[in-house]
Amino acid sequence: MRRSGGNRVGKSVVDVRADIPFLKTGIIYLDNASTTPTPQPVIDAMLGYFSEYSANVGRGLYRATCRATEAFEAARGKIARVINAKPEEIVYTKNATEAINIVARGLKWRKGDKVVATVLEHHSNLIPWQRLERAAGVKLNLVPATPDCLIELAAVERAVDKKTRLVTVSHVSNAVGSIQPIVEIGKLARDNGALFLVDAAQSVGHIPVGVKRIGCDFLAAPGHKGLLGPQGTGFLYVREDRFDELEPLLLGGGIVESVEEHSCKLVAPPQVFDAGTPNIPGVIGLGRACEYVEEIGVEKIAERERRLTELMMEISGIEHVQVYGPDIEHRGGVVSLNVDNLEHHKVAAMLDEIANIAVRSGHHCAAPTMRRLGVDGTARASVHYFNLEEEVERFVDVLGQIARDFGG
Ligand SMILES: Cc1ncc(COP(=O)(O)O)c(C=O)c1O
Repeated sequence: MRRSGGNRVGKSVVDVRADIPFLKTGIIYLDNASTTPTPQPVIDAMLGYFSEYSANVGRGLYRATCRATEAFEAARGKIARVINAKPEEIVYTKNATEAINIVARGLKWRKGDKVVATVLEHHSNLIPWQRLERAAGVKLNLVPATPDCLIELAAVERAVDKKTRLVTVSHVSNAVGSIQPIVEIGKLARDNGALFLVDAAQSVGHIPVGVKRIGCDFLAAPGHKGLLGPQGTGFLYVREDRFDELEPLLLGGGIVESVEEHSCKLVAPPQVFDAGTPNIPGVIGLGRACEYVEEIGVEKIAERERRLTELMMEISGIEHVQVYGPDIEHRGGVVSLNVDNLEHHKVAAMLDEIANIAVRSGHHCAAPTMRRLGVDGTARASVHYFNLEEEVERFVDVLGQIARDFGG
């Protein structure tokens, strides 16, 4: 990495675009909240594994397997750096969903425990708690949101009490982009002796996220969104003194010190969460992706995404276009919309057909949020650092054309 006077010299938008092969197809990719395209250095890191040391990890002594183990383990440190954690606090997962499920399944629940989440959660941070409600006698309390899809502290304060075992909230809503006050929510959780899990699926890699500053016990994130890592990767941050409370989801090969016929001694965390052959190329790719994001600079990514989002928000001035969620001050790089009298899937299909613009349509795995907005779905555009102002302007123009010709 190049450095200048101690400061990292960030990768430019031109550099990053040149690094992402998928963008060369000419697509205007505004579906970054779903998953992001992969830069060549990340692909190269995975290709390097496949072509030079394609062996299993933690299971042998020949040089290729040692190299694979070293590269696999090194990724923990690279991920940890992005969120200001320690390498030994990082558990590899296949996505954010698995990370949340590890917490839901891994804590020892008592009947009457309370989980406080919000009505804005992604299904991945809702359904695991619903199962606990059915199966373990846990009470799930969902904090209501304002019409702008923000969570007010007073509402959390009303929901959290001494029976609350865990408070969880998505940092940034994938459905409408609202950013929640997680530092303050974390304090409310702590003041009541509750654990705090942050769903950082839409914030890590997009805006600065520091686990110490947030004061969370757990943080779930995908590798394949803001971090520009490969699909099939993610991680769970576990504050080091919380591992005692958390059982691994899977047990099996690769995580034992010794095994008898009816008993076993397992290795220590975080490796105890790696039962079975893990996604070795994916984890190595994710490690490289974290370095790549650092080479750009998360602050720089946040600043640019904010500018692009401001530009996207110009659609709120278009007749027959409804935009959901908060003002720019409280919004990440996500804009959710409908065109009057036009189904959201049709809007997305037209953007694709007319201008090769990729946006997602549907309920965005956040059906309660959609219900809250009184719609069954939206079209959603979401940016990353590599998007161009011209791309966003084209999106605004084409959406205006669609609204003029078909809306109303
Ligand atoms: C807020 C939020 N939470 C959780 C998830 C689940 O992430 P993954 O697909 O990596 O499991 C997503 C995915 O879009 C999300 O946006």
